[in-house]
Amino acid sequence: MTELKKQVTFRISRMSEDKNSYTEDFTLECTNATTILQALETIKGEQDGSLTFRRSCRASICGSCGMFINNRSRLACRTKVKDMIDLESDEPQILEIAPQKNQPVIKDLVVDITPFYEKVENHKPYVQDGPEKVINVDKTSYEQVNMVSNCIMCGSCYSDCTALAENENYLGPAALAKMFRFVADPREGQKKKRLKELSKKNGIWDCTRCGLCIDACPKDVAPMEAIVKLRSRAIEAGVTNNKGAKHAMVFKNDLAKHGLLNEFWMIPKTFGLLGAIKQIPNAIHLAKKGKIPSPMPEKIEGVEEIDAIFKQLKENPINVETRKEDDGPGAG
Ligand code: SF4
Ligand code: SF4
Ligand code: FES
Repeated sequence: MTELKKQVTFRISRMSEDKNSYTEDFTLECTNATTILQALETIKGEQDGSLTFRRSCRASICGSCGMFINNRSRLACRTKVKDMIDLESDEPQILEIAPQKNQPVIKDLVVDITPFYEKVENHKPYVQDGPEKVINVDKTSYEQVNMVSNCIMCGSCYSDCTALAENENYLGPAALAKMFRFVADPREGQKKKRLKELSKKNGIWDCTRCGLCIDACPKDVAPMEAIVKLRSRAIEAGVTNNKGAKHAMVFKNDLAKHGLLNEFWMIPKTFGLLGAIKQIPNAIHLAKKGKIPSPMPEKIEGVEEIDAIFKQLKENPINVETRKEDDGPGAG
C-alpha cells in the first residue's frame, strides 16, 4: 500500500487548572499507519508534555485508552487516523478527541472510572456457592461465559449508553454483561438471587435497547444481548414482580390477543392503581391534545396469524442462549 502523509489537526479537549474545559488544536503529520494513540504520544512528546491521557498496553488488551473520538467511544490504540478522516482529501482535516462520556472528567482525556468499577464490585463479581450450583459445564454454558469474559473494562459501552446519560445510577452495559457471565455460569449457586437483584430499579429493565453498547464495544461482548438474555432468564425464573417484567408481559399478552397494544390499560397493568393515579396529570395533558387511547381493545385483521406465531414459539422456543442464533441489536 502506498504510504499517505498528511498534516492533520487534532482538536483535543483540555481542562484548565480551575477545572474549565476548552479545546486546543495540535497539528502533526500522520500516515495511513498512525493510530490515535501514536498521535497523542507524539503531541505529548513533542508539543505539550502536559497533555494527559491513559494508556498502557497499546494492543487493545488493557482497556485504558478509551476516549471519545469523532463522536463515538473508541480505543485510541486500536483506531487509525486514516479511518477517522480522509487522508487523501485536499481539504483541511480535523479530528476531535474528548474524554469518555457519562463519567466525571479528572483532567483532559482522563475520566474518573470509580463509579464504573464500583457498579461491578458491588454486585459480587465472582461465582458463589449455593443450591442452584451445577458441576457440569457444557459447551453452550461455556460459550455464554466466554462471550462476556472478553470484556476489558474499557468503558466504551458505558460512555455511549443512552440510559446512563439520563440516570447515572443505572448499572450500565458492562456491569450487567458481567453479571450475565455469573447467571450463565452453571457453577453459580445464587442465580435467582442475582436475577432478583438485577431486576430492581437501575438494573436490566432500565436499558432502552438502543444498541449503542453493541456498536461501541471493541471486543464484541454485545452487552445489550446479555441484558436481553438476563431479562428472559429473570422471567423464566419467575422474577416478575417488578415494573419491567410486568410491562414486557402486558406487551406480549396484548400482541398475542389483539395484535395491537392497548395503551390505555398498559399503565395500570404495569404500574398498578397507585402508579396509574400518579399519571393523571400526563393523561389530562394527552386528553387536551386529543391523544387519549381508547380503553376498548381492538383486534387487527389477521390476528389469528399472530396467535399462530405465539403458539409456534411456545412449542418451539427460540434458543436465546447462543450468539449464533441470537444475533445483532434487538435480538432475543
Ligand atoms: S442498549 Fe441498553 S445498555 Fe446498551 S447502550 Fe443502550 S441503553 Fe445502554
Ligand atoms: S463490554 Fe465491551 S465496551 Fe463495555 S467495557 Fe467491556 S470491552 Fe469495553
Ligand atoms: S492502551 Fe491498552 S487498550 Fe489501548
